[in-house]
Amino acid sequence: MKVSMLDLVAQYAKIKEEIDRAIAEVIESGQFILGPQVKALEQEMASYCQCPYAVGVASGTDALHLALRACGVGKGDGVITSPFTFIATAEAISYIGAIPIFLDIDKDTFNLDPNQVEDFLKGRLKSPGWTSRRRPKAILPVHLYGRSADMRALMEIASQYDLKVIEDCAQAIGAEHGGQKVGSFGQAGCFSFFPTKNLGGYGDGGMVTTQDAQLAEKLKILRQHGSRTRYYHEELGFNSRLDEIQAAILRVKLRHLDAWTEGRRRIADLYRRELQDGGVVVPLDDPQGRHVYNQFTLRVPRRDALQIFLKEREIATMIYYPVSLHQQKVYRDLGYGDGNLPRSELAAREVISVPVHPELAPEQVAFVADTIRSFLGKR
Ligand SMILES: Cc1ncc(COP(=O)(O)O)c(C=O)c1O
Repeated sequence: MKVSMLDLVAQYAKIKEEIDRAIAEVIESGQFILGPQVKALEQEMASYCQCPYAVGVASGTDALHLALRACGVGKGDGVITSPFTFIATAEAISYIGAIPIFLDIDKDTFNLDPNQVEDFLKGRLKSPGWTSRRRPKAILPVHLYGRSADMRALMEIASQYDLKVIEDCAQAIGAEHGGQKVGSFGQAGCFSFFPTKNLGGYGDGGMVTTQDAQLAEKLKILRQHGSRTRYYHEELGFNSRLDEIQAAILRVKLRHLDAWTEGRRRIADLYRRELQDGGVVVPLDDPQGRHVYNQFTLRVPRRDALQIFLKEREIATMIYYPVSLHQQKVYRDLGYGDGNLPRSELAAREVISVPVHPELAPEQVAFVADTIRSFLGKR
């Protein structure tokens, strides 16, 4: 039985008529960039994320980059973030000349640990990457794998130290913390519509959600060459627009998102039941919120051997992420060394994500779990 990480072809087969109609309508309209579909998706995303405003952009990376810029983060500013994430989180900080301050993660949730943030801001913890005496400007938490970071604690710290909060929601659309949707806590929530995300387009795309009308306006200017009125340019901007075909596809998919998320949550429960008798650490459901399982990520000491074992039995897996960002070559200049952020480093050695997409059949989930158990000698 072959099990793939994703099955977007099977997903398409289920919604083919709706998708084909939506794409055809855009083509027949002759309007391809920033038109009525983008505007409608922005309204629907804003409402879905419990925010008054949402601004479509070209990718999740651009959402982060433009949100930081629009929040006034700039050259030399410190931005506290997780080192255990996709590179785009830190790249966005670096694009604007700011400096990522990597602090360690919580070992159970894989998300930025608020205690580390507090210790750092109180001066009880040093970070090799930030020697300045200035207070950092922002926190950029990542809701990794679809589980919200501890936003209550992080928002409290941010308010105490007057820091902006830009949320990386790329993997977590629809996730909640204390009944509140991610992307509605900080100044800005940044989403990716990369095809592997829970709400994925048929190409690149992204969105920023915000409570702040001025910030939304600023983002609209930045995404369109620094221009409010065509051919009048107030500031240096970018070409970062969401296209109509992607927006039309995403509007169709958004209508199915909650059902798909419930499918992911059911599969996660099934895995948890099947794998509860030890040997691997399974991710806990979030007792304070709604985990949306963009990934179902196990921890296992003999991770590489398990990956080979599963591959030989045609079960796909992925390692998100094999190297913590503070140990990446691109960030060598920041001066972090091995052992600086031990929980992130250990996670990079132990994590393995197994298929959790909603098109999986229960027999496939049972097969994956059974194969893992047989690797562990626990069948
Ligand atoms: C945590 C995280 N942040 C940012 C991004 C960047 O999004 P995009 O690929 O749409 O630029 C991704 C996904 O690719 C991601 O997983």
